[in-house]
Amino acid sequence: MSAHPLVKEKVTRLRDETTPPKIFRELVAEIATLLLYEATADLPTEPREIKTPLALYRGARLKDKVGLIPVLRAGIGMVEAALELMPEAQVWHIGLFRDERTLRPISYYNKLPSSATVQVCLVLDPMLATGGSATETVDILKKWGAERIKYVGIIAAPEGVRALSSAHPDVPIHVAALDERLNEKGYIVPGLGDAGDRQFGTG
Ligand code: PRP
Ligand code: URA
Repeated sequence: MSAHPLVKEKVTRLRDETTPPKIFRELVAEIATLLLYEATADLPTEPREIKTPLALYRGARLKDKVGLIPVLRAGIGMVEAALELMPEAQVWHIGLFRDERTLRPISYYNKLPSSATVQVCLVLDPMLATGGSATETVDILKKWGAERIKYVGIIAAPEGVRALSSAHPDVPIHVAALDERLNEKGYIVPGLGDAGDRQFGTG
């Protein structure tokens, strides 16, 4: 969970039911930037020598290829922010929606090639509720051959954190806030409502 004051302030505005879709999208992107800064802090680098106008400089570049894995729909809002930070990253979309009755994820889009093309995968999805969608996404990425996977979200329920970390203890979870619980319909409380609907004005 992020303790950063800017994250706390932005998540509060994001939760506010009066925040319109345009501002909601901006806040999702801004929070994603701040969380990704923290989530990528331990990515390995390798030396890169360049010339400044004055001298040679032994600098660094990212060692591994990074894949951004937005979970449709709501993860879309985090992609541009991630690409601003890592312009060379590959983007691989995964489409899942929750069955309203069972709350289990249903897969409807997956165009991953037959074997992994990146070493580090950052799963982007604002909401970790039951954890079914995140667990399914990580299952897919591990079968694909991803070596290292991190989950980057905005709001998590304790149930979702438990489910993802028991299925995949090797996947670190980076979120802005850990909320109280899920309600009877599987929504995070206090949460922010439906992250897809609020971004795209479909609620
Ligand atoms: C939301 C959210 C996650 C999922 C989380 O997507 O973006 O993908 O629910 O719930 P879970 O942890 O219980 O699986 P949703 O299924 O509403 O699809 P949408 O983004 O297309 O609206
Ligand atoms: N998906 C959402 O968008 N919101 C929730 O609270 C739970 C799942």
